Amino acid sequence: MNTIHNYQAPANHLKDRIILITGAGDGIGTAIAKASAAQGATVILLGKTTAKLEMVYDEVEQAGHPQAAIIPIDLGGATPVDYDNIITTIEKEFGQLDGLIHNAAHLGIRSPFEQYSAEEWNKTMQVNLTAPFLLTQACLPLLKKSDDASIIFTSSDVGRKGSAYWGAYAISNAGIENMMQILADETENNTNIRVNSVDPGAVHTAMWVRVFPGIDPNTWVLPKEIVGGYLYLLGGDSKGVTGQQFNLQG
Ligand SMILES: NC(=O)c1ccc[n+]([C@@H]2O[C@H](COP(=O)([O-])OP(=O)(O)OC[C@H]3O[C@@H](n4cnc5c(N)ncnc54)[C@H](OP(=O)(O)O)[C@@H]3O)[C@@H](O)[C@H]2O)c1
Repeated sequence: MNTIHNYQAPANHLKDRIILITGAGDGIGTAIAKASAAQGATVILLGKTTAKLEMVYDEVEQAGHPQAAIIPIDLGGATPVDYDNIITTIEKEFGQLDGLIHNAAHLGIRSPFEQYSAEEWNKTMQVNLTAPFLLTQACLPLLKKSDDASIIFTSSDVGRKGSAYWGAYAISNAGIENMMQILADETENNTNIRVNSVDPGAVHTAMWVRVFPGIDPNTWVLPKEIVGGYLYLLGGDSKGVTGQQFNLQG
């Protein structure tokens, strides 16, 4: 059976869809962007470092996939006006939006609760929780016009069950799960939007190497090995699937 864990997307599964991916310049976001473009989507690459976004843009172009777009922005300092500008540009350039993947995250420091700094708390909450809230709010009017739209939030196991020293990263992820549930509930009966959250599990990326410097990263799967789950949630095969928390590695 074709499930989220072994999903094999049919060719051109995302043809003509416009998909916005945050944190698209590295790790899992880059893998999602390249896989979505290979399935016919036009990907809008949002991230902090312009050079990284340009590299992904070039790779998509060289592969002959639909031309991508890039939006360099620091989600740590973005305001509601910035999000309105982003969506105004997307509407003007593409006229539609069919997918929104919240993938960017700030890991922050791992530290005992008692010593967790207010500065680190604020930055982590801004990037991991406030930015997805404001970006989703800005995107909703355009997503509602789509025949088949999908919002995917990224979470983690510590967002589902808190664990020592994970501080604001874990707490922001728990907030993401609740945001997903609220939005799924509000959109279920009166829109074509489905809303789900994904825990990718341990994946070999720069972030996870920083989290666990003592562990051989070759024991973790590569980003490209888990993108099938995102393709499933982005495309028509997941129509009607909403309000669910997925763990891509079981
Ligand atoms: N890797 C894992 O094992 C794992 C496990 C559980 C959950 N996750 C989640 O999966 C998602 C992707 O993580 P990853 O492992 O692929 O990490 P990654 O390789 O470090 O990529 C994170 C991305 O987020 C972007 N980003 C960070 N801060 C930003 C900001 N202020 N403004 C705009 N973009 C920003 C980064 O852009 P720059 O590179 O330009 O800074 C980068 O493209 C995250 O939500 C993470 O929490 C990962």
